[in-house]
Amino acid sequence: MVPTRNNGSMRVVFVTAELAPVAAVGGLAAAAAGLVKELRVLGVEVDVVMPDYGGIELADEQAVDLDVPAWVGTASIRYGVHDDVGRLHLVRAEGLARPHPYLQPSGEGWPDNADRFFRFARSVAAWIEAEPPDVVHLNDWHSGPVLAALSTAPPTVLSIHNLAYQGTSDARWLTRIGPRGRHYEWWGATNPLSGAIALADRIVAVSPNYAAEIMTPEGGFGLDEPLRQRWDAVGGILNGIDTDVWNPAADPLIAAPFDRRELTSREGNRTDLIDRLHLGSADSWPPLAAVVTRLTDQKGIDLIEPIVPLLADIPMRLAMLGSGDADLAARLHELAVQHPEHFAFVEGYDETLSHLLFAGSDFYLMPSRFEPCGLTQMQAMRYGSIPVVTAVGGLVDTVPDADADPRRGLGFVAARARGEDVLAALFRAVRRIRDPRRRGALQRRGMAVDWSWRDPALAYRAVYRDLIG
Ligand code: ADP
Ligand code: GLC
Repeated sequence: MVPTRNNGSMRVVFVTAELAPVAAVGGLAAAAAGLVKELRVLGVEVDVVMPDYGGIELADEQAVDLDVPAWVGTASIRYGVHDDVGRLHLVRAEGLARPHPYLQPSGEGWPDNADRFFRFARSVAAWIEAEPPDVVHLNDWHSGPVLAALSTAPPTVLSIHNLAYQGTSDARWLTRIGPRGRHYEWWGATNPLSGAIALADRIVAVSPNYAAEIMTPEGGFGLDEPLRQRWDAVGGILNGIDTDVWNPAADPLIAAPFDRRELTSREGNRTDLIDRLHLGSADSWPPLAAVVTRLTDQKGIDLIEPIVPLLADIPMRLAMLGSGDADLAARLHELAVQHPEHFAFVEGYDETLSHLLFAGSDFYLMPSRFEPCGLTQMQAMRYGSIPVVTAVGGLVDTVPDADADPRRGLGFVAARARGEDVLAALFRAVRRIRDPRRRGALQRRGMAVDWSWRDPALAYRAVYRDLIG
């Protein structure tokens, strides 16, 4: 058993490839930042460690050299206080500093991504050996190999944010990454996640329903069997959102602040949004749906495309913000040209516009094919936009269907990720909000839910405490 600090607090090393706003690509960044912030509020001493991608300023900076094997080259950690996220540790090793954590300007991955994150993980392991914490908290594949290098590791939690990404590389890494490298062998290759699944003390999926899904062949992305072998270590803790950042009553990024007691003020945002995206009149009819997303297969963009020509009939308008896959973006641009009165598409990652989309839309459309947790449906509900989602992953845990469960329902759920099911859910949603009283009730109910990190952070702290005894 590892002793806790004298004052009863514990020190956790939290290893992540992303942390908002320092380096943010997707929900991992927001989830890491939100959880760390709340854990610190709860008195947990959290040392966040991430790659030094370059250009990150720290106050009171110090540095330590790390004792790493020759294949890593030289590695060090610089640490200090970051303006937005507080105390932060950054690993410097060959190849880590890049303008984007994973992607070249062309949109393809850096060819040496495997080397980069193996070096990162080995460096973190060296630091953990030098200054062992009470608990190590790993996130996704980037930090999975940390456990390969530690013959005796502190109690370890592995959070799975997205099993679709595994960082699999060739077999030559197995002998390099450390004495426990053999656990990472997966079908003749090195899989940074498979070894972490075998070696972590607890495996936490980012929603309870995703915890169940990843142990099935459909949801396991090839790793369901090793996960089933560890079933007694697998659990789910639903993510939260940072309710200081996502606060409709005091949000500098939206036109008109509002709260659930005075929803009429919300209309100013709807008007502003419709104006900006040239989506016709500010009338309440036809209703307006929004999408804020990475453009990738996971998000069911291909299910949205065939709906666009049908929007006039539903009737509905749709405003979409997205960045990622260039082909998907090109097709969406084309649809926007063909259906300018009903569909607007803005390409890019735009935080300001995202806030306005949640604050000004009637519905939030999220037809994901799979969704480990999903943060945007919670952001939408916090801003009074009613979610229309598919019955996958964390969407099941966060959006009870308003027709199936009139008293607890928060949105509309398509049973499967199929075009006709999504369309049917949209029709149900539109029918429901024609009655202003029922619409307002649904909005207020979603806004009243506590989506904050408070409960998730308490649940993680309980896992840490359990592990250290
Ligand atoms: P994922 O991590 O799979 O992309 P999540 O719903 O968990 O999905 O988290 C996505 C996060 O990134 C949310 O905080 C969302 O507001 C933000 N986001 C996604 N796409 C964009 C975009 N194009 N512009 C601005 N913010 C975005
Ligand atoms: C991943 C998942 C998303 C989840 C996020 C944060 O990016 O795709 O569903 O909300 O991680 O855990």
